[in-house]
Amino acid sequence: MKPCMRHGTQSPALRFAQNVRTEGTTFMQTVVRGRPRMVRLCFPGPNPRLSFSSLRIVCSIMTRDEAWKLLTEFTQSDSLRKHALAVEAAMRHYAAHFNENVERWGVVGLLHDFDYERWPNPPEHTRAGAAILRERGLDEELVTAIMSHADWNQDQYPLDTLLRRTLYAVDELCGFVMAVAYVRPEHLTGMTPSSVRKKMKQKAFAAAVSREAIEKGATLVGLPLDDHIQHVITALQGVNSDLGFA
Ligand SMILES: [Fe+2]
Repeated sequence: MKPCMRHGTQSPALRFAQNVRTEGTTFMQTVVRGRPRMVRLCFPGPNPRLSFSSLRIVCSIMTRDEAWKLLTEFTQSDSLRKHALAVEAAMRHYAAHFNENVERWGVVGLLHDFDYERWPNPPEHTRAGAAILRERGLDEELVTAIMSHADWNQDQYPLDTLLRRTLYAVDELCGFVMAVAYVRPEHLTGMTPSSVRKKMKQKAFAAAVSREAIEKGATLVGLPLDDHIQHVITALQGVNSDLGFA
């Protein structure tokens, strides 16, 4: 039996895998080095004689609590924390919509700008953070998704997965929808895509938010712009009080 370099042969994950023997990828809750973790297990095929040597534990997943602690360790700004919560909500919403892993996508949303307060300039923003995320055990799929949301990393980490495309698609739009919510007396309540689009036409309103990136985002997730905006509004309405609107 070939030991797993990171987790050893006696880990609960390996014992679990011995019994499951399912083709493809699955997730399980386990304990790694005394800490609760969600791990992703990759099964190479439907071989009924699957052995430990053909099983890889691909990653362990940072919990939402750990991600929040990491975010708040590096980010003191209330508006940046709210931006992280908004992007997390949008990522969780789209993960459910696309039948993807809600917890993993949520962690990507929560952490995508966690290093911005300390390293606001390219290319340190995202790259300084990636080194820390790797040190803290976040797996490469999530680290590289976070890297890919910055234009200056896209030669190395292109927008070629649904996770990466969705993060890019919701980032600017979350910022814009939040800006619209701040100037509406009812905030997010009753907000419609057309009210957001009207604001997009006002060049002076939230001028730092790229309209081009918002429109590109809708294309990246394969939706008409109004539908994409509606998804993000719905996601943010779901965390209304966390965003300070209730
Ligand atoms: Fe962001």
